[in-house]
Amino acid sequence: MRILLGVSGGIAAYKTPDLVRRLKRAGHEVRVACTHSALELVSRTALETVSGEPVLFETFTPRVHAGVEHIDLASWAELALVAPATANVIAKLACGLADDFLTTVLLACPAPLWLAPGMNTRMWDHPATRANVACLVERGARLIGPDEGELACGTTGVGRMSEPERIVEALQAHHARDLVLRGRTVLVTAGATREPLDAVRFLSNPSTGRMGVAVARAALDLGARVILVHAHLGVKVPAGVEAVFASSAVAMQGAVLSHRDRADLVVMTAAVGDFMPPETAPGKVKKEDVGETWNLTLVRTPDILAGLGQDRERSGARRPLLVGFAAETAGGDQDRLLTLARQKLSRKRCDAIFANDVQVPGAGFAGDTNLGLLVFADGRVHPLGPGTKDQVASALLSEVASSPGIVAAPPLP
Ligand SMILES: Cc1cc2nc3c(=O)[nH]c(=O)nc-3n(C[C@H](O)[C@H](O)[C@H](O)COP(=O)(O)O)c2cc1C
Repeated sequence: MRILLGVSGGIAAYKTPDLVRRLKRAGHEVRVACTHSALELVSRTALETVSGEPVLFETFTPRVHAGVEHIDLASWAELALVAPATANVIAKLACGLADDFLTTVLLACPAPLWLAPGMNTRMWDHPATRANVACLVERGARLIGPDEGELACGTTGVGRMSEPERIVEALQAHHARDLVLRGRTVLVTAGATREPLDAVRFLSNPSTGRMGVAVARAALDLGARVILVHAHLGVKVPAGVEAVFASSAVAMQGAVLSHRDRADLVVMTAAVGDFMPPETAPGKVKKEDVGETWNLTLVRTPDILAGLGQDRERSGARRPLLVGFAAETAGGDQDRLLTLARQKLSRKRCDAIFANDVQVPGAGFAGDTNLGLLVFADGRVHPLGPGTKDQVASALLSEVASSPGIVAAPPLP
């Protein structure tokens, strides 16, 4: 892999020649970009000697390679690793600052970003650093460490940059995983639709889209291209997905239909309203005009999943593979949940349903965790969770990705 190693001015910079050596020994190509502070703490000559490449740290210098150096380096990298990542560099990356060579190249770099922070415990614990790290992780950055131990300032605590050996192990372990969805496109729906009554009111539900976003992230993690068709979310759209906004059930149906031919797999996690007003009043309906009781007439929204299932059956196509989500109230009865899941599976003509019982603690809307049954049309049943929504999403996609429909079919061009 082509790794851009960014070195910033933490005391652990002195360990980076060893890190470069280990990365190269593991078979990677490494180019190093430093901050000015880093070069106070590690020798440029040492880094150039072990990497076999010039160390880049000036934005405005004669070119080492032809072209615009920071853009070329940003495009060259398949992975960007910042080790040590100082509190300062983490803050700049969170804000999108690009006031030196390293932060400029990182801002222009589309490759996955890994950070190995190293700093004093109080700097690490500072609310500003916590918020900056959370922001970067939310955008898809991965953290290695920091570890707990003796720090250069003589104190002990969390903040020590992970040892080079551990950093390389973490990268190797991640990339040794089987990227079972590499070359595949996964369309995920997420969030709560809004069915407008008038210009200011709508019918909706408490879904935050967390589960769908977790599925989108898990699909990216398994190497897929991800189209996230989302309604209203309480969480951020993850970096790296193609996001398509669709507010209502009808809009979501349109968006799904216009992208489904590109998808090998469709995972419908969105909480799509089942009913909508037949028409939306153009302005705000006045209380005075309604009186004490507003009798609403509602009509069924399109059943997007069932529509996809029918279209697929009609055309005889095997793709996309269809996975639905079902929030059920089974009162904690697993057999009842399984029955409801199987009924939905055959009604919708899809390949699998993940059914959760929202009456069970830890399952369902808005929370951080989920658990339920993944029921396949071929009869397989996998209990998933309890676990975080990320864990459940990964387990779900790993099961689905090993389905015959995905394994047997070549990726779409
Ligand atoms: C000897 C020394 C060691 C330092 N170690 C760290 C460190 O481990 N982590 C950190 O965030 N800052 C550390 N600093 C402070 C940074 O070098 C300082 O915030 C600098 O502005 C960071 O610049 P950079 O992020 O552009 O490399 C250290 C400073 C000195 C003088």
